[in-house]
Amino acid sequence: MNYEQQIKKFAAEKNAVILAHNYQPPEIQDMADICGDSLELAQLAKETKESTLVLCGVYFMAETAKILSPEKTVLIPRPDAGCPLADQLTPEIVRRAKIEHPGLPFVVYVNSNATTKAECDITCTSANATTIAASLPQNKILFGPDSNLANWVQRQLPDKIIIPIPANGGCPTHHNFTVRDVEIARREYPNARIICHPECNAEVQQACDLVGSTGYMVRHCGSAGEWVILTEKGIVHPLEKRYPDTMFHVIDAAICPNMKLIELSDLYVTLRDGVHPVLVANHIATKARVVIERMIDVSK
Ligand code: 13P
Repeated sequence: MNYEQQIKKFAAEKNAVILAHNYQPPEIQDMADICGDSLELAQLAKETKESTLVLCGVYFMAETAKILSPEKTVLIPRPDAGCPLADQLTPEIVRRAKIEHPGLPFVVYVNSNATTKAECDITCTSANATTIAASLPQNKILFGPDSNLANWVQRQLPDKIIIPIPANGGCPTHHNFTVRDVEIARREYPNARIICHPECNAEVQQACDLVGSTGYMVRHCGSAGEWVILTEKGIVHPLEKRYPDTMFHVIDAAICPNMKLIELSDLYVTLRDGVHPVLVANHIATKARVVIERMIDVSK
């Protein structure tokens, strides 16, 4: 039996469901029962009936799944798949910001560690950041760690004041996109529509035709005949599968190294041996769960 067949066999024997993020390598996405964006993965973690959940993504995604489903075994094939953006907001930074801005709610991007989430008020993903911020009664909101997403929410909600914490937090992969990339794409593909992820900087967002999460891209980028997609290039796989008649262009260098760590052999070993369980200390998980569930309730 090859890896694919053995992975299917072990998943069935162990009552496991495989979830994968839209940025995962094509062969991993193809082995997954369901692929999705950060919000969809968080919602699925709660809804799936299987007793074991294998999360193919980066660590905070598996941690979120474990927090939402403490009774399930959550495995991550590469526990070293971190997120440099998540590490930019520590619990200490959140506590300090709350002292400096007493009474303000802290909206924490799901790209954060559990210990940080536990200090905040509500999570958001790139798919629902504006909805979450709009749902809060306060006019001033602390928001982190992604300052580009914070600024995007600010432009959607001009009546609120969104304070990015830290001031310049950002994803190294999305940070590399420039307005020049958009200009070159417009010249090379004059008939294409151009969409970027809200983790791109404000100038890039404003130069594009649309801004959206990976889930938004998968749902909405089939209509026109040609698209330029400014986000991690793994997104092209679900897009090409779903819209075989549409042409997609991505930037080859747009790679998140952490999202590319999981190989079929890792997934196979994880399922065969039940290795790399995600564990979250009870006192952290209890606090972080409330913060994540608030987001899920608002997003229903
Ligand atoms: P999405 O919520 O759009 O899937 O984004 C996840 C992410 O980590 C972007 O860098």
